[in-house]
Amino acid sequence: MSSPSVYIKTYGCQMNKLDSALVTSALRAAGFSFTDNANEADVVLINTCSVRDHAEQRVLSHLGHLKHLKKTRPGLMVGVIGCMAQRLGEKLFQHEAVDLVCGPAQIPQIPQLLADALQEKKKTLAIKQKIRQTKKPEDQNLALEQFESAYGIEDRQLPGQAYVRVMHGCNRFCSYCVVPYVRGPEVCRPPTAIIEQIRKLADAGVKQVTLLGQTVNSYKYTAGEKTYCLADLLATASNIAGIEWLKFVTSYPAEEFLDEILQAMADSPKVCHYLHMPAQSGSDKILRAMSRHYTAAQYLELLDKARAIVPDIAVAGDFIVGFPGETEEDFQATIDLTRKAKYKNCFIFKYSPRPGTRADEKLQDNTSAEVKKRRNIELLAVQERISDELSRDFLGRQVKVLVEGLSKKAHLNLDQSSSERQLVGRTAEDWIVVFNGPISLAGQLAKVKITKTSPLTLFGQLC
Ligand code: 5AD
Ligand code: SF4
Repeated sequence: MSSPSVYIKTYGCQMNKLDSALVTSALRAAGFSFTDNANEADVVLINTCSVRDHAEQRVLSHLGHLKHLKKTRPGLMVGVIGCMAQRLGEKLFQHEAVDLVCGPAQIPQIPQLLADALQEKKKTLAIKQKIRQTKKPEDQNLALEQFESAYGIEDRQLPGQAYVRVMHGCNRFCSYCVVPYVRGPEVCRPPTAIIEQIRKLADAGVKQVTLLGQTVNSYKYTAGEKTYCLADLLATASNIAGIEWLKFVTSYPAEEFLDEILQAMADSPKVCHYLHMPAQSGSDKILRAMSRHYTAAQYLELLDKARAIVPDIAVAGDFIVGFPGETEEDFQATIDLTRKAKYKNCFIFKYSPRPGTRADEKLQDNTSAEVKKRRNIELLAVQERISDELSRDFLGRQVKVLVEGLSKKAHLNLDQSSSERQLVGRTAEDWIVVFNGPISLAGQLAKVKITKTSPLTLFGQLC
């Protein structure tokens, strides 16, 4: 077969999107081509998420469609990669459609595995069986590191922007979370590799780099006498010509390194005033049951400190509602914390028991679906009022925006005869801004005067 074509579908977080981009680059380099139409593909790869049951159900339903597609296209090869591949392993072969199962740590092998599988038409399993028993994780991750350095420059998701992973895995083991089991232990990438990658991205025209890690603020790498933390990466990356904005996600609410990071934010005009730091709950009892190692008061103290060092910092959060044992009183404590934290926006999730996690094994999922839904809606409404209030501050102000491209939703009246389109971008503080302008602005920084606000989106005119 000459140049087999691949269709890749990605579920889940930025880490997964980044993995898909790396796999795409590696497959291109190995001679594969790509298609946007699964019906035309020789290979369908599904990069999966296990963080909630809903994400896994979507993948299973996708596999159901592929089973039908395979009836008309028997040569089609289907690969499941990512977190669900690691979690379920060869059980996924019980699904008729699946030919290849490959965990997150094995993605460097995908080009070879696919080439072999296409030739030999056999089922292929590539997952690390003992994902957490790594004596020297740095050595074991050499292949991943080489893969990342080689392919981390191309296939960006948005013009002018790139994501750079600074660490793999997680050591926190929050009781509800599957990530440490599917992504393995925390392994930090060498600062030289990260900085080199950012330099190459800048040379390729990238203006904004977002550093990625499950607990990005705990980044730590010792080389010789010196230990590097995230603040060192931010300071060094700030000196790279061409890089305008640096962001980082996701932060864990802990003292460790936070001062240094906030100081780097205050000191460098390139480090964006944006902190995504999930609280997960406002109840100390629930935080304990979640194995989050802070109280609501300590969390708020961290935010106070952040605002003392960077007064205009925008904060985003995550919450889980309906965690086992969450009473109305606990939920009220979450509402209370949300009000005090003054988030720019929040991501709110209904608790989903994940097999193998301590919460699933030791605690009963005793909040009904109805109650979880009601709490979700209620908390969203509280946050919406806060976002609305914060957004109003922007009315009449000029903001700098990194333009992403065409806005998916139609918001503004547009003169049909004009060459302008409805564009969307984000400010350094991560506010979404919609305005009319030429599409050539995609990937560029633009100045926009805000003329209208809403809880999640600011609207304006190009200056
Ligand atoms: N159920 C619901 N939400 C979860 N999250 C992680 N695990 C679960 C779970 N089992 C949420 C947390 C985390 C975000 C990425 O997903 O809020 O910050
Ligand atoms: Fe999951 Fe907790 Fe690690 Fe975040 S810090 S990835 S919630 S275990």
